[in-house]
Amino acid sequence: MKNIVLIGFMGTGKTSTGKLLANRMGYSFVDTDAKIEQECQMTIKEMFAVYGELYFREREADLIRRLADGANAVVSTGGGVVLNSQNMEYLRQNGVIICLKASIDVIVERTGRRNSRPLLERENRMKAVSELLQAREALYAQADFSLDTSGITPLQAADQILEFVKRERIWRARS
Ligand code: S3P
Repeated sequence: MKNIVLIGFMGTGKTSTGKLLANRMGYSFVDTDAKIEQECQMTIKEMFAVYGELYFREREADLIRRLADGANAVVSTGGGVVLNSQNMEYLRQNGVIICLKASIDVIVERTGRRNSRPLLERENRMKAVSELLQAREALYAQADFSLDTSGITPLQAADQILEFVKRERIWRARS
């Protein structure tokens, strides 16, 4: 069965929703940021600081290429995965693309809880979020299905995605 690929801006709930969704579907779960951190033995934040964003983007693209042949997985991606069109081709190869969204206020609130996103380490985080969002809007719009998680829990988001994959016959519960 096809992979379920979660894309979307930082703080939209890709990791927490993805884990719950994988559990409900009986799929394996891959979080690309966590896997990069594990493979490189350093946090994304350290990687940005030591080697720069470009190095991270190369690690990210390399991992996405390796995931392209997989199946039966929920893949939660980093918010910037859409910046590379080749990434999106690989993810589509055997995947359905689902975009999680949230309002700027909610993103600022959620991403403010942990200081782990180098791209948001700016004095005016609200401005940083809105500028990046605007620059990426069209890229996130490539998804097959989008869902706003602003007022809902990760469990509710997972349920709504489950409804979509059932409706579209992308997945069905084992009887
Ligand atoms: C990034 C998002 C982060 C992480 C990196 C860059 C981005 O992932 O990949 O800090 O460019 O939007 P999350 O979306 O999981 O926070």
